[in-house]
Amino acid sequence: MPIRKAVIPAAGLGTRLLPATKAVPKEMMPIVNKPAIQVIVEECVSVGIELIVLINGRYKGALEDHFDVSYEVQDVLALQGKAELLDRITHLSQMVDIVSVRQNRPLGLGHAVLCARPVIGDQEPFAVLLPDDLVDAEQPATGQLAKVYDETGMGALALVEVPPGHEPMYGMVAGDPMGGRRHRLRTMVEKPPAGQAPSNLGIVGRYVLPGSVFGHIAATAPGKGGEIQLTDALVALMEREGVVGHLLEGRRYDTGEVAGLIEANLAYAMKDPVLAERLRAFMRTLV
Ligand code: UTP
Repeated sequence: MPIRKAVIPAAGLGTRLLPATKAVPKEMMPIVNKPAIQVIVEECVSVGIELIVLINGRYKGALEDHFDVSYEVQDVLALQGKAELLDRITHLSQMVDIVSVRQNRPLGLGHAVLCARPVIGDQEPFAVLLPDDLVDAEQPATGQLAKVYDETGMGALALVEVPPGHEPMYGMVAGDPMGGRRHRLRTMVEKPPAGQAPSNLGIVGRYVLPGSVFGHIAATAPGKGGEIQLTDALVALMEREGVVGHLLEGRRYDTGEVAGLIEANLAYAMKDPVLAERLRAFMRTLV
């Protein structure tokens, strides 16, 4: 079954990027010349998603504004004859419908995803993309997981190998190898203390989940940090229906923290030959 709908939870406070995020949502931080949220929406479009549910919060209206067609800008660009730029800034809005749902308090990632239930419904699988996580891969991360869902019939989530000491920043898992990059999960722990993770595999922000997960989230009590944790609901899903962890192909950047945001910018800039040449020369003067 093709995955037609996606949820992008973006109602968090972005405290790790303060003071940059006092007045500007972290999802609007640029990755070279486009905001991170646009890179995520482009990933959705590239795998055939038709409807995105953006979970939004207070003071983050810029996320919605970004996908508006701005007639003022359109008129100016048309007058200036900048047809190519005009097309570049308007084409995404024509490729996908974006519905915004308000999470009126940041009660946790599980709660944020549950806010999409009235739009998505319980009957079809859907993708979840956390906009903090950029994955630079030949096959988009969401496409990799959609393939796992299609071939196994089980919910799928993205895994990376977590360096020693970083376990308290991830949901950590362990499972039985299914061949290739897949593991049928049997344990999931949200942000365990260092040294207590069940393996070196940690969850990053891409999922393809069955609609039934909404029922599990609705039944989840507040967990770590008093938040409704998606991981806790995924444990219930794993026990009843099975969940597959897929070790991502590609490189993942955590743009929700300062170093990761800078690394992502450097890596994406180096893909542009003109920028790459200039940056290489500049970096040589620094290091
Ligand atoms: P994070 O915990 O990484 O995001 O949540 P945050 O809270 O914005 O960041 P810091 O830690 O304060 O810097 C992962 C994702 O889940 C969303 C966030 O927007 C982010 O994309 N989220 C989290 C929600 O939408 N609602 C919540 O209640 C919690």
